[in-house]
Amino acid sequence: PDNQAFSFHIISWYRSNPRDLPWRGTRDPYKIWLSEIILQQTRVAQGLPYYYAFVESYPTVKDLALAPESEVLRLWQGLGYYSRARNLHACAQYIWHELGGQFPGSYSELLKLKGVGSYTAAAISSFAFGEAQAVVDGNVFRVLARYFGIETDIATGKAKKEFEALANQLISRDNPAEFNQAMMDFGARQCIPKNPDCAVCPVQGSCFAFRHGLVGQLPVKVNK
Ligand code: ADE
Repeated sequence: PDNQAFSFHIISWYRSNPRDLPWRGTRDPYKIWLSEIILQQTRVAQGLPYYYAFVESYPTVKDLALAPESEVLRLWQGLGYYSRARNLHACAQYIWHELGGQFPGSYSELLKLKGVGSYTAAAISSFAFGEAQAVVDGNVFRVLARYFGIETDIATGKAKKEFEALANQLISRDNPAEFNQAMMDFGARQCIPKNPDCAVCPVQGSCFAFRHGLVGQLPVKVNK
């Protein structure tokens, strides 16, 4: 398969099928971080009102740092996985008190924050700073496994390394943020888990899984 063609088609698809999401209109790492923590275990539709509420109540990392934890947890009510809210608040305090209010400014600095793993650090650093760090989540596993015919069990650490390396090769150097957003949306809306509509897929002709009738078999996930 042609890597450049893949990235080109995915980005073209995204440009004609954009989702208008509020955190896409900002390059403020604090707001992007908020959105990514909310979206870690939560669907976009459910997370949206919480994102608006948090940005409204705490427009800056300082506002979040100085808020009482009980209030932050109250605002989080209904989202579940409360450790996310506690980490969010603790990180804001750390940034405000220990980093002089300066939000971490790179992928590797972001990784040091509690609750920020490689996916979230890649999302924030690409969207806010234009760093070429590829996001890899379940959506990206699925798209890449199908397109490239990768049969590695996606539940393994080996797969995470393999897919991250591939996605980091594919990511557009000119427009890493757009590539990541395109991959997220392509996986969430076109290359969906069950019965994707391959007839309208822009990369159908070069997709390994489509050409070999393996769309239903990829990605491989061994149940443990
Ligand atoms: N899921 C996780 N991060 C996201 C984002 N930035 N946009 C849409 N869905 C997401």
